[in-house]
Amino acid sequence: MSDSLNANREHFNKIAADYDKRHEKGVGQLEDEIKASAEEFIGLKQGGRVLDYACGTGLLSRAFASRASQSIGIDLAESMVEAYNAKAKSEGTFPDKKEAYLGNITLPGDPSPEAFSDPKFYNFDLAGVGAGFHHFDDTTLSAKRLSERLKAGGVLFILDFLPHAPEATGAYGVTHHGFTEDNVRKMFEDAGCGGEFAFKKLKEPIVFWAGEKGDRRMERSVFLARGAKL
Ligand SMILES: C[S@@+](CC[C@H](N)C(=O)[O-])C[C@H]1O[C@@H](n2cnc3c(N)ncnc32)[C@H](O)[C@@H]1O
Repeated sequence: MSDSLNANREHFNKIAADYDKRHEKGVGQLEDEIKASAEEFIGLKQGGRVLDYACGTGLLSRAFASRASQSIGIDLAESMVEAYNAKAKSEGTFPDKKEAYLGNITLPGDPSPEAFSDPKFYNFDLAGVGAGFHHFDDTTLSAKRLSERLKAGGVLFILDFLPHAPEATGAYGVTHHGFTEDNVRKMFEDAGCGGEFAFKKLKEPIVFWAGEKGDRRMERSVFLARGAKL
């Protein structure tokens, strides 16, 4: 595992139990924004199947719950997967409507991980990543791996940050200090998901409380991007 993958796993395992409480306001704002954008901007069809990659506690799965027939989460941090599944169990949506699995489909040396070879991990109507791309080592490779999981015409969707000043956040597994619209369009095109590409910036920046103790104020301008698999 690369240093940044180890850092991600260690960091998110440590903060999983606290994640929703710590980010209650910011994550709540994002959830509302995605919910409001699900139909027209993102284009998730009613009854579609969703891959919530780097799912954490399940922000995208919650935001898409009223349109999706099923959401499958994948995350490399055990405690995040446990938190996702505990929530789904308490809502009564586990496992048919929501279930998360431990793993990583973005490793350069493992293009088709055995653990994700079952047909249920393919043919999604939407593959989405909430605030995960800035943690990935190779974002273009990650976009390609997500694209392979989509059916033709399926939607690749990401929510992430616009470029911001670099911070010493390597210990938390941050590998990219935001993305421009051109970066993201190219990533989508290289992944074969450039169809009807759309990008929007949220009006207000979002405040997150980062770091191991949740005491580092982090203000980020957020974008949503979507493109269809050609
Ligand atoms: C900032 S959190 C976002 C969680 C959730 N998507 C959300 O929007 O609240 C980033 C998540 O990405 C996961 N992660 C980072 N790199 C990953 C990778 N290569 N594969 C799978 N999960 C990854 C982390 O474990 C963590 O749960």
